[in-house]
Amino acid sequence: LFYFDNAATTFPKPEEVYSFMDAFYRQCGVNVGRGQYDLAAKASSLVSETRQLLLDLFYCPQKRVVFTSSATEALNVILQGLPWQDGMNVYITPFEHNAVLRVLHYLKSVYQLNVIELYVDKEIMDYDLEEIKYQFQDKRPDIVIMSHASNVCGLVAPIKEICAFSKCYDAINVIDMAQTAGLVDTDLNLVQADFVVLAGHKTLYGPLGIAGLILNQDVNLKPLMFGGTGIDSANPDLPKTVPERYEVGSLNIQAVAGLNAALKWIAKIGIEEIFAKERENTSKLFELLTSFKNIKTVGIKSVENHIGIISCIFDGYSSDNIGQVLNEHGVAVRTGLHCAPNAHRFLGTFPGGTVRFSMGYLNTEDDLERLSLKLSFIIENS
Ligand SMILES: Cc1ncc(COP(=O)(O)O)c(C=O)c1O
Repeated sequence: LFYFDNAATTFPKPEEVYSFMDAFYRQCGVNVGRGQYDLAAKASSLVSETRQLLLDLFYCPQKRVVFTSSATEALNVILQGLPWQDGMNVYITPFEHNAVLRVLHYLKSVYQLNVIELYVDKEIMDYDLEEIKYQFQDKRPDIVIMSHASNVCGLVAPIKEICAFSKCYDAINVIDMAQTAGLVDTDLNLVQADFVVLAGHKTLYGPLGIAGLILNQDVNLKPLMFGGTGIDSANPDLPKTVPERYEVGSLNIQAVAGLNAALKWIAKIGIEEIFAKERENTSKLFELLTSFKNIKTVGIKSVENHIGIISCIFDGYSSDNIGQVLNEHGVAVRTGLHCAPNAHRFLGTFPGGTVRFSMGYLNTEDDLERLSLKLSFIIENS
């Protein structure tokens, strides 16, 4: 199998992730924060260490990590918890995932919200910061939600600059780093983000079932879920402390163990090295795809401001058709709308969608060479 669907989930995981998950779950698969015995304390230490490793990754030891089961849940915790009021201006990128769009759609049924897309210049395929400043002057931002990188075309948003602009209006900034955490080196001291969303199973190379958000200690979100926290159990109210207030129910300790191993793996290799290798592979992939005259890449002019996700369309074929043919040749890609319909409206590929190739650190030169042969064969014989 030649796996080019790393934007859905990175696969395979580093060997350390599988082996540590298995060993930890066998030896210490107990409930965290619920018991006084040694094993429970060991499981709790693993969770604390994993929170710390995440904060280290973003150079922000003073912040807090709340674990959730998915990035979708983290986005729901944030977006459903914000202090919404009628008339608020909500800025989003043209590339938001349904994990944002559908929550906003629901919120719009409750509140009168003006949802506005941040300006991206299609000619150069990049965010236009001057235009975004004008957008904010015209309609002051209350909430800004940004996919750090599009899961359709890989375009990276200049979050540092846009967060700085929106903070002039005291806006609340939410950054969805599902496709960039652990890949794009980000110092959260330099980005005025109030909430950052992570997906453990994507660029963090951990397993499915663990994700989270990073937030300031003094944050006040209306809790989305209520339940046991292992502390202050006689109190009918949730604890006021973070993460307990937003982290109810039993934690998936096996998935936390996997994320722990993955974060140590990232630290061992180095985020710059991971990014550099992915960039090199992405350049090769871009060159390869653009070398075929009946393949048209979309939403990318150069790999410069992109992560390793490239979408394309094949002349005369639907994306699903190509997905099936590639599958017959042992190539795994994702086709369709990739849960981000607005991105395709923006890119002109709605409703058919695109064929998406997404690279990971574990893709090899050989994968790309094989892909080249397979694509040549498919195109010559179609
Ligand atoms: C940008 C972005 N945000 C959020 C999500 C949702 O992640 P999950 O399905 O793991 O909850 C994804 C998943 O593809 C994504 O690409």
